[in-house]
Amino acid sequence: MKKKDLKVPRIKNGTVIDHIAAGNAVKVLHILGIPKSSSSTVSVAMNVKSKLGKKDIVKVENRELKRSEVDKIALISPKATINIIRDYEVKEKHRVKLPDEIIGIVKCSNPTCISNSKEPVKSRFKVISKDPARIKCYYCEREPEDISEKII
Ligand code: CTP
Ligand code: ZN
Repeated sequence: MKKKDLKVPRIKNGTVIDHIAAGNAVKVLHILGIPKSSSSTVSVAMNVKSKLGKKDIVKVENRELKRSEVDKIALISPKATINIIRDYEVKEKHRVKLPDEIIGIVKCSNPTCISNSKEPVKSRFKVISKDPARIKCYYCEREPEDISEKII
């Protein structure tokens, strides 16, 4: 293999999160609890050239993602794809997709919102735009300025 062909190796089993908006790989790692609460082998490529500008890629071995993790990735990178790899082959490929409502995964930025009170009320947002992601609190209508900072 020539030096210039060296790339992040293909994986045998696990999940490849591809087409992450360039620079957002670290946020994806944070969402996946890496390295704190996961011991999976992970490789990261940042600012990789692709058809449409630059992108980041995260490869997590021997792990499939939870629905809530995929929804969080959709909030920070609406164009990301989730590729499930089994025995070196891409067995499934999905574009992340935000549901119409997201419950319990983003904290409202309004300190007086009922979802931030002592009441047992989970945060709830209406998705008003999927790409770029824009959300609005169901209770107080506040729109977070930087969603990625409010992901729980
Ligand atoms: N991949 C991997 N290990 C494998 C198979 C694939 O790490 N055993 C990675 C590829 O490097 C790529 C992603 O998984 O980043 C998707 O693979 P593939 O569908 O083969 O690539 P493309 O056709 O380029 O995907 P797309 O059309 O979604 O850009
Ligand atoms: Zn609110």
